[in-house]
Amino acid sequence: MSTDPITIFRKSWATYQKVINNNFMFHREIAAAVAELFDKRHAPLNLIDLGCGDASHILKLLRPGQLAEYCGCDLSQYALDEARKQLASYGAAIKLCCTDMLDALSQAPASHFDIVYSSYALHHLPTESKQKVFAECRRALRDSGCMILVDVMRDEGQERQEYLYSYNKTVRTQWEALSPDERNQVQEHIRSCDLPETAATLEELARNAGFTKCRKLEKQTWHEAWCYEV
Ligand SMILES: C[S@@+](CC[C@H](N)C(=O)[O-])C[C@H]1O[C@@H](n2cnc3c(N)ncnc32)[C@H](O)[C@@H]1O
Repeated sequence: MSTDPITIFRKSWATYQKVINNNFMFHREIAAAVAELFDKRHAPLNLIDLGCGDASHILKLLRPGQLAEYCGCDLSQYALDEARKQLASYGAAIKLCCTDMLDALSQAPASHFDIVYSSYALHHLPTESKQKVFAECRRALRDSGCMILVDVMRDEGQERQEYLYSYNKTVRTQWEALSPDERNQVQEHIRSCDLPETAATLEELARNAGFTKCRKLEKQTWHEAWCYEV
């Protein structure tokens, strides 16, 4: 078995594509709810995408001409190389940075973006870093802007261990389109990397950072989409 990090990343990225194609993380329902919100905003928009991956998910939510600027950041250069190919013909100013989301945000100009978007990435950070992300998002957003967070969230009162057990049970018993090896790979990733908060904790972090309007756009099991506004 290869130990080369690029090969390992490609393999896990291919598994993630299967997860999306089978809608195991409800990308379809969430995309519909978020696209509706994008449509209500005055285009063209300046948007930053934190943990953008290959940008294929956000591209499904956007119509041509909706963005003036797309700024994507991710820790994986491989994912960003894929994103650059996908975005080549989109027709907005494209900026892609291989950096941690907090670094990308802290380098962003103040009051610049209409939308900060993050999908299935924030749960990798510990709570204190999530608080810093919310504060930096508020700083980088215009007063009329909004932060859209798509992520896995624990149920209220559910401890992390309980969440891990229940989520991984779903992976084991319901994600049948994945091979046993792929299901093991997903469960191991969840055990070692997932630090999901409850929606109430995330709302508290948002309010601490100066967001006053917090509303749920979609919820499918532990998969939620929220909009935070000033
Ligand atoms: C599950 S993928 C989601 C990709 C895409 N946003 C989507 O919804 O399909 C999570 C992505 O977050 C990135 N990521 C994780 N932690 C990060 C961090 N601290 N800063 C930037 N990107 C991060 C990973 O490299 C990965 O590409």
